[in-house]
Amino acid sequence: MKERTRILLIDDEDSGREALTLLIRNAGHFVRSAASGTEGQQILAREKFEIVITDLLLPDANGIDILKKVKEESPLTEVILITGHASAETAVRAMKEGAFDYITKPLNIDELKIIIAKAVEKHDLLSENVYLKKQLRDKFEFANMIGSSPAMQQVFALMKRIVKTDSTVLVAGESGTGKELVAKAIHFNGHRRDKPFIAVHSGAIPENLLESELFGYVKGAFTGAARDKIGKFEAANGGTIFLDEIGTMPLQLQTKLLRVLQEEEVERVGSTRPIKIDVRVIAASNLNLADEVKKGTFREDLYYRLNVIPLQLPPLRERVEDILPLAKHFLTKFCKEMHRSRMTLSKEAVESLESYPWPGNVRELENAMERVVALTEEDTITLHALPPNIREESLTRVTEKGVDLMKVIAEIERSMITDALALSDGVKARAAALLNLNRTTLVEKMRRLGMPLENQ
Ligand SMILES: Nc1ncnc2c1ncn2[C@@H]1O[C@H](COP(=O)(O)OP(=O)(O)OP(=O)(O)O)[C@@H](O)[C@H]1O
Ligand SMILES: [Mg+2]
Repeated sequence: MKERTRILLIDDEDSGREALTLLIRNAGHFVRSAASGTEGQQILAREKFEIVITDLLLPDANGIDILKKVKEESPLTEVILITGHASAETAVRAMKEGAFDYITKPLNIDELKIIIAKAVEKHDLLSENVYLKKQLRDKFEFANMIGSSPAMQQVFALMKRIVKTDSTVLVAGESGTGKELVAKAIHFNGHRRDKPFIAVHSGAIPENLLESELFGYVKGAFTGAARDKIGKFEAANGGTIFLDEIGTMPLQLQTKLLRVLQEEEVERVGSTRPIKIDVRVIAASNLNLADEVKKGTFREDLYYRLNVIPLQLPPLRERVEDILPLAKHFLTKFCKEMHRSRMTLSKEAVESLESYPWPGNVRELENAMERVVALTEEDTITLHALPPNIREESLTRVTEKGVDLMKVIAEIERSMITDALALSDGVKARAAALLNLNRTTLVEKMRRLGMPLENQ
């Protein structure tokens, strides 16, 4: 749910200000009011507002100056000016300075409501867009995608062709294989890069809200629809919409989506007025949609409409060559984020990472590296610094590459002795008891493993 829009109202006329405050509050927004330009400026210095409504002629300030200052400090804040009859000329100047709109006195309540609603809509749209651009623009260049394996090289080659087209893409792949990253890379490397990239995670939105989330609604369409709201398709206009987890979309909505894709227009819930849209669609699923079609949970015609260009992301276990470069990439990233010196992986740690099956794919590797950076003091990452499940899984698997059984057993011994000693505060006799060994056998093993023998 979006937070309430914050509106600042600056007006020196008491009765007008109070009436307006009430009106804005009734429209469902948060409102703060100021009785003078000075008070307004003080509030602005402390708090952020999405919309500022100010009288043009205040005894102690000029609305245009307030407008300029607001725009300078917070360009996304929309400013609406209230003017008397005589100042229409000034109002025109205000528009040039970047005011969203102006209203003349005496105020027409309905007109004002519409202007506020439009300003809110514009603000939300722009902030989503600017936010995304700032956050993602440089972060999601192709260059930031790692993959030297033949499988990923093929993916990159296909992506290079895809960015030149506007065709619908269906990205398939297990969880954590990079479906969203691919979608963003396609968007931010194509001709739509300056337009919005809007992601919709179908699975995360309650079924009854998904339709209005996608297509928007008009005021009064249902209880609680207090004002018009644009949907994700309209918000993505000119850009790209990313329909994640498309396989979980309810059938009835699939029908509507198919119509939108075919007609290239949407209808807001509660309205029959079609709105033209120009949106590139990238859909993703970690289910095999062809299977879902066979099961009857996914519409066949929608499947074909989406699957114009299929892009399959291979699971990480099928591209072992990528594991080390990815691990290094994430280590560098987290070391930088956590302000610590560079870290390197020991040979045993690399072997372990490369033989682990990574059911959670790249995301699991990323999380594992974050944990390692956060919890390891030394700059060399030994086997012991890896998360236990990874260490153990990988240690006990025999792969095509073969394993060194004695070395594996030694590693398991080292790991279990370390844990037992930790549980016994370093008292060897107690650790030995936990492991069902005599103390001498334990000491002998530790000596053989090159483990430090000081104290008890
Ligand atoms: N080739 C890659 N190079 C660098 N980082 C990657 C790569 N692939 C995935 N990642 C990173 O791994 C994480 C998971 O990727 P993403 O969210 O795109 O996966 P997903 O397939 O959408 O997963 P899910 O199905 O769980 O939603 C992200 O942080 C992403 O940046
Ligand atoms: Mg995803």
